[in-house]
Amino acid sequence: MPAIEAVDVSRTYQLDGVSVEALRGVSLTVQQGDYVALVGPSGSGKSTLMHLLGGLDRPTGGRLVIGGRDVSALSPPEMATLRNETIGFVFQAFHLLPRTSAVENVALPLVYRGVPARQRRERAAAVLGRVGLGHRLDHRPNQMSGGEQQRVAIARALVTEPTVLLADEPTGNLDSVTGAAVLELLERLNAESGVALVMVTHDQEVAARARRRITMRDGVVVADSASDSPTTAAGTSDDDPADAHDRPLAVDQGRPATLVPAPSAEPRFASGRGPGHPPGGSGGAAGATGRLPHPPVGTGTHPPVGTGTHPPVGSGGNDS
Ligand SMILES: Nc1ncnc2c1ncn2[C@@H]1O[C@H](COP(=O)(O)OP(=O)(O)O)[C@@H](O)[C@H]1O
Ligand SMILES: [Mg+2]
Repeated sequence: MPAIEAVDVSRTYQLDGVSVEALRGVSLTVQQGDYVALVGPSGSGKSTLMHLLGGLDRPTGGRLVIGGRDVSALSPPEMATLRNETIGFVFQAFHLLPRTSAVENVALPLVYRGVPARQRRERAAAVLGRVGLGHRLDHRPNQMSGGEQQRVAIARALVTEPTVLLADEPTGNLDSVTGAAVLELLERLNAESGVALVMVTHDQEVAARARRRITMRDGVVVADSASDSPTTAAGTSDDDPADAHDRPLAVDQGRPATLVPAPSAEPRFASGRGPGHPPGGSGGAAGATGRLPHPPVGTGTHPPVGTGTHPPVGSGGNDS
């Protein structure tokens, strides 16, 4: 099962009586364990697409399947649960609670799962250890550097052991050295834990390192270096039907997404690495059985899990 599947997805915003077609028929599949760089000029629809892929927003047209579930069939609380179980978000502006300790920021998404407080702290501390912040557990984000804050945000995104990590310009607020370290961390987590990584970037070097590049322009995908989704270029190259047949399996990088091993059978986090985890204790078993069927969403006191404060765009508007 692909992690996320979008088929001919569109998103039109209504702004002061004017329609803005931010996405105009996007089709793509995010495979388990994928590493995708999403590039394109400002305003091309990258953030809109990220919000849809992460279930923060819903398409106005087309079909979107996240973790095997068609989002059009889901109620707002079901969407929130799906996000909590499947998706981790990392934003350019971190979106941490500034006066709450790092470990509590990271543990927050587990509150919605009904994980007991002590386990929450243990799991959050273990993930902070994985991002190199085991010595900063009780520091507050407003006492931390930008690079440290982004690592806290990455830990918060990962504490729920999501299938997909969506990062919208995660290094955009960081200097180049710090940004490179954050990027290395994301790549390492993708390689080690098998979490699929979809990252918006303006950095061509970064994009070149990804296993797959998707290029957007004016609300459509104009290039996708993986050829696993034949509908990818729908609407942009339909004047050349031969193209679809001649397209090589792996356009570049020699690794078609269809050959990415399914990481779901592996532990997401090596249990030997983090302190305080019994073997397998951080694995799917605890997560699967410890989940509340309905997290207490819509209480108004907490943002959707793992997202910190809402992003500025399409912040789950259909959900509230
Ligand atoms: N909440 C919104 N309301 C109205 N228009 C929006 C909203 N969010 C984005 N847009 C418009 O949709 C288009 C795509 O925006 P966005 O997805 O943010 O692009 P990118 O992330 O590639 O810069 C732009 O024209 C933008 O102005
Ligand atoms: Mg954007």
